[in-house]
Formats: sequence, structure tokens, C-alpha cells
Amino acid sequence: MDAISFSDQSPSIEIGPISTSSFPNLLKGYEQGKIAILVDENTHYHCLEFLITTFDTLREAEIIEVPSGEQSKDLAICTQLWHSLTESNFGRHDLLINLGGGVVSDLGGFVASVYKRGIPFINVPTSLLGMLDAAIGSKNGIDFLGFKNQLGSFTPALRTFVDVNWLHTLPQKEWLNGYAELLKHSLIYDAILWEELLLIDTIEKELTAAQIKRGIDIKNEIVAQDPLEKGLRKILNFGHTIGHAIEAYYLETDKPLSHGHAVAIGMLLEAHLSLQLSGLQLSDFQQIKEVVLNKFSLHLPSDKSLIWQLMQHDKKNREGQIRMSLLAAVGECKFDQHVKFVEFEQAYDSIAALK
Ligand SMILES: NC(=O)c1ccc[n+]([C@@H]2O[C@H](COP(=O)([O-])OP(=O)(O)OC[C@H]3O[C@@H](n4cnc5c(N)ncnc54)[C@H](O)[C@@H]3O)[C@@H](O)[C@H]2O)c1
Ligand SMILES: [Zn+2]
Repeated sequence: MDAISFSDQSPSIEIGPISTSSFPNLLKGYEQGKIAILVDENTHYHCLEFLITTFDTLREAEIIEVPSGEQSKDLAICTQLWHSLTESNFGRHDLLINLGGGVVSDLGGFVASVYKRGIPFINVPTSLLGMLDAAIGSKNGIDFLGFKNQLGSFTPALRTFVDVNWLHTLPQKEWLNGYAELLKHSLIYDAILWEELLLIDTIEKELTAAQIKRGIDIKNEIVAQDPLEKGLRKILNFGHTIGHAIEAYYLETDKPLSHGHAVAIGMLLEAHLSLQLSGLQLSDFQQIKEVVLNKFSLHLPSDKSLIWQLMQHDKKNREGQIRMSLLAAVGECKFDQHVKFVEFEQAYDSIAALK
């Protein structure tokens, strides 16, 4: 993968090798305090050793491990983490480092944001999805009563360090998971990036660091214009209104679907709605359909009313109406689009017929 320099970056996020970043300098400020590193079992195995052997300050760090997977974004796990922090007498001058994918940064960010009304944390995303999406933009959260990200806050990380070298050990299906978000970033904001991504066959071999950086920049640009999601930021939810409902549905089964996979299916359905409601051209819809079905298997629960019901909890809804972000064209997205059940049903039936 090609190298990237530190120039032209937002101060709270650095992209490049972590060993030559400001990470060691930042750690210096915590030499007198305590540092904890949150990992899951996979990032414990693949990533932790490099971090603690490269940075002396981390040799004494407390390691907190949670099981890998979405099930760890759970209140009982938070309670365990707050226990550990309390037992170690963690305070506001101490530091939490989230070393892992989106589950670790969502969970660690939430735990840190609430503990003693907030302690500082750093995100070191190790999955493609974490780098492109979850570890940037200040949102954190856990799932509650079967609903995705039902509890959470907007709390910025002290800094986020994106180093694509972590991706060498990332399983192929996790590349795909992150790729879904990159496709989304391009569809809502950057038609040129979309054209580039169309040409990619084997993601882990062909995706470039420059394309990953472009994906991060897109998210940053959007978040900077609307940090608290009052308007424009909602476009980042393209594919997510239906995607989250599908993800929540499978979360309750013995075959959970990854976030990216659910979002890919959500994008296909929402692209169909865009065709009906927001002016997307048929040729663009067909291209989106081809890309999604070429990369992702189509899982669609037969009970569409249940999916519609799960969508009622989406945070973008207003006055009991479903509001979605829909495409006006490739590279252009409109938020707050009112969608009725009959329209949803039409899209759902059309996509289900592709199975
Ligand atoms: N806060 C936000 O703005 C935001 C945005 C998008 C997604 N999310 C959340 O992110 C989560 C999904 O993130 P994810 O896909 O990274 O899931 P994840 O954290 O579960 O990581 C996926 C898998 O990859 C493993 N892994 C991570 N890095 C690795 C590495 N370098 N080598 C080997 N294995 C590695 C993990 O252990 C896990 O098994 C979801 O909960 C989603 O809701 C949050
Ligand atoms: Zn997402």
C-alpha cells in the first residue's frame, strides 16, 4: 500500500505510520498518570504487542480485553469496564486508548465519555471500517434492548491515529465490511471516487491508501460542517435507516450480519427508493446494484413489516415519519426525505425479487 504524509490533515486526526506520528508526544503528557488500552481478543493478538513494544510509555499500561463482535457493545460490558477503571482508581488525568475496530472505539468512547463525566481517550482504529468511519466524527455508543446505538454520545477523541499498516492482519470479510462505508462515502459525496472504486476487484490488494484517506477526508468534511447532525451530517446515514434495521434483525439470530454488509443491503434498498423519490437515474441505480451484488450476498428477511417496525426507532425520524437520506445522483445526497410504507414496500419487493 502506498505511503501517505501528514500534511493537510485535521489536527484531531492523523493519517500515517503511528511510530512517526504525534502519538509518542501525546503519551508523554500521561507519563505520571495511568494508561489503559482497550482491545478485543483479535486486536490483543494482532496489534497490541507492536504498540506496547514500540512506545515505552505503554509498557506498564493496563490491558482491558472484551470479546470481539457487536455483542460487546452492551451495558453489562460497560459496567465491567467502569468496574475496572474504578478499581484502578482512574481519573480525569488518566488516559484510555481504544485499539481496535468500530466496536472497540464505540464502546471505549462511550465508557470514557460517561466515566467521571468524561476522561480523555485516543482512538487507534485497526479495521478499515474503524478508520473510515467509526473512529472519526465523535460519535460513540452501545446497543440497548435490541436497538443499535441506542445509548451514546457525541464526544470527540483527544486524537485519532489512522495507520493503514494495521490492515495487514485484517480478515478479508472485514475489508469488505469497511469497503461498504467507502462506497457510501463516494455515493453521497464524490462521484470521482465512486468511478475509481468501480474498478476494484480484490479490495485488500487494490484499494490504495490514498483512497482510504479520501474516504476519511469526506467524512471529516461533512462532520466539520455539521458536527451534531442537525442537517448535512445526516447524509452519512445513506443506507443506514434500512441497514440498521436489517442489522438489528440479524443480531437477534444465530447468524448476525456485519454492519457493513447490512449497510450494503440497506444502500441497495435506499438506492431503489432514490430512484422512486429523489431523482436517481436508472443507469446509476443499476450500477449500484451491480457493485453491491457483486461484492455482497443478498440477505433480506422475509418479514418486511418487522423491518419497517425496527426502522421506527431510527434517530432521524420526526413526527412519527420515517426520514431517510436518499441519492439525487451519484455523489449527491438529500437528507430528511419522507418515505411511506408503500414506497418502502415497493423497493423491498423489487430487491427481494433479485434473490
Ligand atoms: N461511531 C460511529 O460513527 C460509527 C460509524 C460506523 C460504524 N460504527 C460501529 O462500528 C462497529 C463496526 O466496526 P467494525 O466493522 O470495525 O467491527 P469490529 O470492531 O467488530 O471489527 C471487526 C473484526 O475485525 C477484528 N479486527 C479489527 N482489527 C483487526 C486487525 N488489525 N487484525 C485482525 N483483526 C482485526 C475485530 O476483532 C473484529 O473481529 C459497529 O458497531 C458500528 O455500529 C460506528
Ligand atoms: Zn455505518
